[in-house]
Amino acid sequence: MDRYGVFGNPIAHSKSPMIHRLFAAQTGEQLSYEALLAPLDNFAGFARHFFAAGKGANVTVPFKEQAFQLADSLTARARRAGAVNTLKKLDDGSLLGDNTDGAGLVRDLTVNAAFDLRGKRILLLGAGGAVRGVLEPLLAQQPAALVIANRTLAKAEQLAGEFADLGPVLACAFDRIDAPVDLIVNGTSASLAGELPPLAASLIRPHHTLCYDMMYARQPTAFNRWAAEQGAGRTLDGLGMLVEQAAEAFFLWRGVRPDSEPVLAELRRSLAA
Ligand SMILES: NC(=O)c1ccc[n+]([C@@H]2O[C@H](COP(=O)([O-])OP(=O)(O)OC[C@H]3O[C@@H](n4cnc5c(N)ncnc54)[C@H](OP(=O)(O)O)[C@@H]3O)[C@@H](O)[C@H]2O)c1
Repeated sequence: MDRYGVFGNPIAHSKSPMIHRLFAAQTGEQLSYEALLAPLDNFAGFARHFFAAGKGANVTVPFKEQAFQLADSLTARARRAGAVNTLKKLDDGSLLGDNTDGAGLVRDLTVNAAFDLRGKRILLLGAGGAVRGVLEPLLAQQPAALVIANRTLAKAEQLAGEFADLGPVLACAFDRIDAPVDLIVNGTSASLAGELPPLAASLIRPHHTLCYDMMYARQPTAFNRWAAEQGAGRTLDGLGMLVEQAAEAFFLWRGVRPDSEPVLAELRRSLAA
């Protein structure tokens, strides 16, 4: 049976095995998929050992940059992101690195939430790995403007400079933005600690602005609670992005696109249980 897995540290709570096993059952693909705890001091050795027999792997915190270094070739979107979340062993034994995080976010927004990004004003919070990974796919949707706001302004400015050739992207400090936007994507890890970036309430146009937290939890995140209190049109969490980035990886490995909707519903049920 073809062997797949997800490398991370820690990894015990990863939802990827459940998602990929559901995809395999749904599509009739014969494969195994497991969560694999990679050592912090020898990611490359661990990955090479796995790929002696393994066919593909997802990569999560804190190894996405190391996977980028490990890959023998890269997709254009992985090269732009500077990070790899999906590895595939090619027929000649070499490793292809891809990054499906951004495609996952865009598909969750445009297909699952039916939100057309074209011509929209987007505010992206954070300037870490997750934001870097979603910039190219978001700009490819041709928004009217995309502002990156981050606690450390220099990191937002660096990203805006790197991606300026792809569209109208600017950097800003949290306390310098207050005009209403159509979409706010929280790509900071503040929600992990139940915290919230210092944002002006006026960023949200009541009954209109879509607020999306890349994080997900059993209860609404701090950011989504704040957004709902300001009267946001809709709030969404990152569970859909997680399932969609996995679907994109599954497609890269197997050439079959799974139906993500029932898998997302199953995951949502298990998160609530
Ligand atoms: N749903 C999915 O599939 C998916 C995929 C990838 C990531 N994510 C989520 O995305 C989030 C970010 O991940 P990452 O890999 O980009 O992390 P990262 O590289 O460590 O970056 C963290 C970012 O959060 C900011 N930040 C941290 N604490 C903050 C606070 N208290 N107030 C304001 N800003 C704060 C940091 O600002 P500074 O630059 O100032 O330090 C930085 O911009 C995580 O919650 C992760 O779970 C979800």
